[in-house]
Amino acid sequence: MTLVHDRPSVTPIPEGDTSPIDTKPRSRFAWCVTGSGHFLDESMAIAARLPQVDLFLSAAAEEVLPIYQMRIEDLKPAFRVFRDKTASAVPVGMLYDDVYHTVIVAPATSNTVAKCAFGISDSLPTNMFAQAGKLGIPGVVFACDTEPVVVTKSPHDWVTLRPRRIELDNVERLRGIDHCHVVTTPAELEAWLDVRLIELSLAWTTSSS
Ligand SMILES: Cc1cc2nc3c(=O)[nH]c(=O)nc-3n(C[C@H](O)[C@H](O)[C@H](O)COP(=O)(O)O)c2cc1C
Repeated sequence: MTLVHDRPSVTPIPEGDTSPIDTKPRSRFAWCVTGSGHFLDESMAIAARLPQVDLFLSAAAEEVLPIYQMRIEDLKPAFRVFRDKTASAVPVGMLYDDVYHTVIVAPATSNTVAKCAFGISDSLPTNMFAQAGKLGIPGVVFACDTEPVVVTKSPHDWVTLRPRRIELDNVERLRGIDHCHVVTTPAELEAWLDVRLIELSLAWTTSSS
């Protein structure tokens, strides 16, 4: 049985950005940022090279980005930025308005990976991920806690983490979720996006070098 929901058309205006956007259907990337410092620089550098990207921040991302010297204000010239300010994840309505062709979660905290793997959606990134899946919009998640030993950049130093069995198991569970691809390195993320851009007849805006 197919259920048809009546859903209001919601296109919130991101704070500080009134620039006109491409209104062609499914013309933009939705890039969800979580509160992960691991591979944050690398992920944002890749996002900056894609055409037509909107950022969807978790509340934790909003705190963690400035800790890694990325102020929200500095991101706004390059991206439309949506913040996690509503309990029902109001910006997700844009998925139903056919704005996005692809949803990316990068970098993904172990918290967000766990929620996505178990179908929990209680933040802007996890709602974007879940609703995109229900609409059949392809998604990619850059999971960070994927190896028995992870060396990661803390705000002031490099630290060694040993993800627990539950974090590793959640990544494996996430691989089985519909319309979701899991990557574990910046190179894998870039390779997946290379293929996606070709599928969409699009190209990187600048090269990686
Ligand atoms: C500076 C800083 C760096 C962090 N880096 C990570 C990280 O690399 N991986 C991770 O799983 N959590 C990391 N956290 C913890 C998450 O931000 C925290 O679990 C948060 O609740 C995740 O929320 P979110 O998944 O909704 O973004 C970090 C926290 C801080 C303050």
